[in-house]
Amino acid sequence: MSQNGTTPPGRRAAVVDGLRTPFVKAGTDFRDLSAIDLAALVVNELVARSRLSPAEVDSVVFGQVVPSTTVTLVAREVVLRTQLPRSVQAHTVARACATSIQATSDAADQIRLGQSDCAVVGGAESMSDVPLFASRGLAQALVALSRARSLGDRARALATIRFRDLAPVAPALTEPTTGLSMGESAEKMAQVNRIPRAAQDAFALASHQRASAAWAAGRFDAEVMHVAVPPGYQTVSSRDNIVRADTTLEALAQLKPVFDRRYGTITAGNASPLTDGAAALLVMSEEKARALGFTPLGFVRSYAYAALDPRDQLLQGPAYAAPVALDRARLRLADMDLVDMHEAFAAQVLSNLQAMASRAFAEKELGRSEPMGEVDPQRLNVNGGSIALGHPFAATGARMILQTLRELGRRKKQYALLTVCAAGGMGAAMVLERE
Ligand SMILES: CC(C)(COP(=O)(O)OP(=O)(O)OC[C@H]1O[C@@H](n2cnc3c(N)ncnc32)[C@H](O)[C@@H]1OP(=O)(O)O)[C@@H](O)C(=O)NCCC(=O)NCCS
Repeated sequence: MSQNGTTPPGRRAAVVDGLRTPFVKAGTDFRDLSAIDLAALVVNELVARSRLSPAEVDSVVFGQVVPSTTVTLVAREVVLRTQLPRSVQAHTVARACATSIQATSDAADQIRLGQSDCAVVGGAESMSDVPLFASRGLAQALVALSRARSLGDRARALATIRFRDLAPVAPALTEPTTGLSMGESAEKMAQVNRIPRAAQDAFALASHQRASAAWAAGRFDAEVMHVAVPPGYQTVSSRDNIVRADTTLEALAQLKPVFDRRYGTITAGNASPLTDGAAALLVMSEEKARALGFTPLGFVRSYAYAALDPRDQLLQGPAYAAPVALDRARLRLADMDLVDMHEAFAAQVLSNLQAMASRAFAEKELGRSEPMGEVDPQRLNVNGGSIALGHPFAATGARMILQTLRELGRRKKQYALLTVCAAGGMGAAMVLERE
């Protein structure tokens, strides 16, 4: 698709089914599972539950944001570790937190072009199992050691290692262009857009209240599988363990700012937490779905990706991408029955909502005469979002698509808009539709 408002003709991509693991805080229930373990679990269970013959699948598109050093191509590994035929080709995608939106739009494009009929897409993340790297000093010494030809060379290489070089290095959630972490970038957005701490905490509270109400009403039961927890397999993880039914504004207000301890507003309570989990969707051409007797949950109507300079407002991408996705869908915000926005931080969602409603933003940043509009809070993240449910980076987009399509079905409504902010100043948006 070009960056204009048209969607090319082609076959509609139907989301036929989907599933996710519980999303759990890093270092808890899934600490002994890798991202690929979680991916294989969810894909096997999805294929089994959907009663799809694995032989129907012709493509796997999967992603992982913080890659494992032992698995370079997560998508193909999903094929090799599940009941899917080994002849199924696969490709791995990466678009930071929008990774499984990308996996879905890739599959939708392939279906539209007639190059695929049935794809498994999704993402998995284990923040319990992040790769640890050797420091630069240790790595240089080890390379020199491997090239050493004499005992003296070896001794000289080893002698360059300082004690501090032995400390392992973890992957950073830092934006290379600015050197700021995601949290620091969101803190900057809160300041620039004047998003008060109280508004952020109120938004976080709603996320928890809505997610816990959804669990209590059984709305997640069919979309979240149970996982026997290794190493003992004596306990079963059956629910997200980050959602707090008992969170209060008072408790949230007590939490100390994390990223700017002195003047900051972002806390553990109004940020998405580091999370383990996986989510997968079954995406087919409309014809294939009907031929196999599936009733689609819904369809990908349009999507858009956009980007801004990371030195500006790093997580403001959704405000740039969403109007383009709506244009491509030939729909307006007012047509959307639901809006689901990934909650990296409450400050980030509130900043994006402000921009979407702002005429000045529309004119200056988008070159449009009209703003996209005010998002109705009653239609926004109605079953909670990443603050309460957690955010296993690569799995979040697929979780949102599944959760939103099922909610559209329950409400017998037609259209939904999804948005995700992503590293590098990027934003993703997707319009979903039911019949
Ligand atoms: C913000 C962050 C640093 C917090 O990490 P943490 O300190 O491990 O968070 P915890 O879950 O231990 O919470 C800290 C405290 O807040 C409390 N807390 C968290 N959420 C709460 C809530 N909703 N209500 C009440 N208390 C809450 C915890 O109970 C804990 O209290 P304790 O210290 O008394 O046990 C971490 O979640 C983070 O880095 N998030 C951002 C991830 C990111 O950058 N994502 C990219 C987005 S695109």
